[in-house]
Amino acid sequence: YRSLRVALLGGGTVGSQVARLLLEHADELAARAGARIELTGIAVRDVDAKRDVDLPHELFTTDAESLILGADIVVELIGGLEPARTLVLQAINSGADVVTANKALLATHGPELFEAAEQVGAQLAYEAAVGGAIPIIRPLRDSMAGDTVDRILGIVNGTTNYILDRMDTTGDSLESALAAATALGYAEADPTADIEGYDAAQKAAILASLAFHTLVPVEQVHREGITGVTAAQVESARKAGYVVKLLAICERLRDPDTGDEAVSARVYPAMVDRAHPLAAVHGANNAVFVEASAAGDLMFYGAGAGGAETASAVLGDLVAVVRRHVAGGPGIAESTHAELPVLDIGQVTTRY
Ligand code: NAP
Ligand code: HSE
Repeated sequence: YRSLRVALLGGGTVGSQVARLLLEHADELAARAGARIELTGIAVRDVDAKRDVDLPHELFTTDAESLILGADIVVELIGGLEPARTLVLQAINSGADVVTANKALLATHGPELFEAAEQVGAQLAYEAAVGGAIPIIRPLRDSMAGDTVDRILGIVNGTTNYILDRMDTTGDSLESALAAATALGYAEADPTADIEGYDAAQKAAILASLAFHTLVPVEQVHREGITGVTAAQVESARKAGYVVKLLAICERLRDPDTGDEAVSARVYPAMVDRAHPLAAVHGANNAVFVEASAAGDLMFYGAGAGGAETASAVLGDLVAVVRRHVAGGPGIAESTHAELPVLDIGQVTTRY
């Protein structure tokens, strides 16, 4: 295999898991991608900080700019707006493709970054920016491109779902559940982004833009967080057969008189009927319920936050980006090399 050089910006909750998986699964990833993915370094603030994952110390650097130079692909997992924006632009302008999980960056500076990438023919992949491990960006952008999406109801923030679920099932307080979510690596560096709904609003802007083929600026997303939700409200909702969830609601609206259409995106705590599939989304899981005119209802469900879980989506993007570098590489959906034996059909038992 030829080798492609990958610079990792950020070695925190997600970045350290991406590095671990890249090193541990180097051979399988090379076979799937059609090229070896060579991790050239990890840019961080403090090279000596104690980390949960044991990684070679020589990989760490504080010099992100030098690391970007000479990289074929840059994976941005620093988070926030700056220096992430400047570094991603630097990567694109130096000819690298970029993979990022940074929804704040995309919801705020997406048009500028996509235009910069288009001008130089670079790829900018961001499957991990919404829904953690859940594949939702490519399904909405590609698989559903021929359909008409009417509405999306999403639980798109793992931290707040974890908190509301604990308040509902154990009577825990918001403060104590937030401390647990932070310790588990679900919360943003500043958890205000989670509990005040900023993170969910950024994800709603991304989902609505993809679903409705129009740019939905994050400033146009109505936003309410969960800090006003009380234990008494959660309890009375429970008694009435509802559960409180922070929902991202993205809708195509039609004026009945003129037939004119418009898009609305809102984030707020809502009462969800316990019979609805979204009521069964527990812990830090996320789910995106899509109502489309031809496909009907679809639900995408899984881990919405967490280091390894999010790293799964980042690595999926990385493999897809590498495949496009490699002329004649396998298609996105197919891998035909014999990595694992296939069970004889008679050996498979299904029980759910
Ligand atoms: P994190 O744990 O806070 O890690 C951030 C990393 O960036 C740290 O390694 C930090 O270095 C490094 N960093 C910060 N400022 C830097 C700078 N100026 N120059 C170089 N490195 C810098 O964040 P995370 O949870 O991994 O999240 C990373 C991104 O993934 C964010 O955009 C987040 O929204 C997104 N995301 C996270 C999750 C999740 O569950 N955590 C899920 C989906 C998406 P030090 O280690 O030295 O401090
Ligand atoms: N802080 C975010 C959440 C991380 O809790 O959903 C995943 O984007």
